[in-house]
Amino acid sequence: MAAPFLKWAGGKKRLASRIIASIPAGGATYHEPFLGGGAVFFAAQASALRARLCDSNAELIECFGMVRDRTEDLIARLEPMAREYLAEDADGRKRLYLERRAAIPGDPLGRSARLIFLNRTCYNGLYRVNAKGLFNVPHGRYLNPRILDASGLRTAAGALAATELVSEDFEAACAHAKAGDFVYLDPPYFPLTATARFTDYTTGEFGSAQHTRLRDVFEDLTGRGVAAMLSNSTAPYVEDLYSGHGYGIARVTMSRAINSVGAGRAPVAELLIDNFERVSG
Ligand SMILES: C[S@@+](CC[C@H](N)C(=O)[O-])C[C@H]1O[C@@H](n2cnc3c(N)ncnc32)[C@H](O)[C@@H]1O
Repeated sequence: MAAPFLKWAGGKKRLASRIIASIPAGGATYHEPFLGGGAVFFAAQASALRARLCDSNAELIECFGMVRDRTEDLIARLEPMAREYLAEDADGRKRLYLERRAAIPGDPLGRSARLIFLNRTCYNGLYRVNAKGLFNVPHGRYLNPRILDASGLRTAAGALAATELVSEDFEAACAHAKAGDFVYLDPPYFPLTATARFTDYTTGEFGSAQHTRLRDVFEDLTGRGVAAMLSNSTAPYVEDLYSGHGYGIARVTMSRAINSVGAGRAPVAELLIDNFERVSG
């Protein structure tokens, strides 16, 4: 069973079965415009879907491509990185981490190995970049981080074999979906409070204007007969955006692996919005 090879904020592992149960049977293409770690895609792969996977994070999509196309080369790059790191004491590990964080390799394979290495050894598996687009998450304190999971990478490569991987904005990604396809949208969530924001996946901010644009894209998909499901927070702003359109709006509860609020790991409610009734009706 394939699983995400990266830790990713907002990972949807726990909601995956519920989303997958909604995917229409038949030869439709599965679209995931906010791929992140790809928890839902990997969980859905048991049903061998054709898939188009996108994210605006170009480094992330490049890494997925290296896992798919150059699995053994990637494993060979990661192996010495993992060995060297794990042989060090706490100070040595931090020094190595900061060195790798500061040096961006010029080749896709090197960049992808660096991304996996940083993801496994940084604080909480976060992905955050500064205004210049440079990764700036501090060193984590895992005793025995699994930097190289060769069998996990090989299984992920198998699941990705027939996928199309594209780095682009969600609007362009959704434009590729056709009637009969299925789109799962998992944007950076609208913050429940002003301090609980976590939108720093890339240098671009995902604020209310983007959420409104996303609702318009959702409406466009609906009008074109594309089944779509979207998750988001229970912020009143989100409920207002999607109310009154004939969409299904379910409140679901799941615990989160990464939360920007340290103490906020208790289960949180979120919304699962779908357009199934309008698309089938
Ligand atoms: C909540 S995460 C997705 C998590 C994913 N469902 C998982 O299980 O790991 C949101 C993703 O949206 C991406 N993103 C942010 N703005 C975007 C945009 N305008 N278009 C496409 N992707 C975007 C981020 O890079 C991030 O990976």
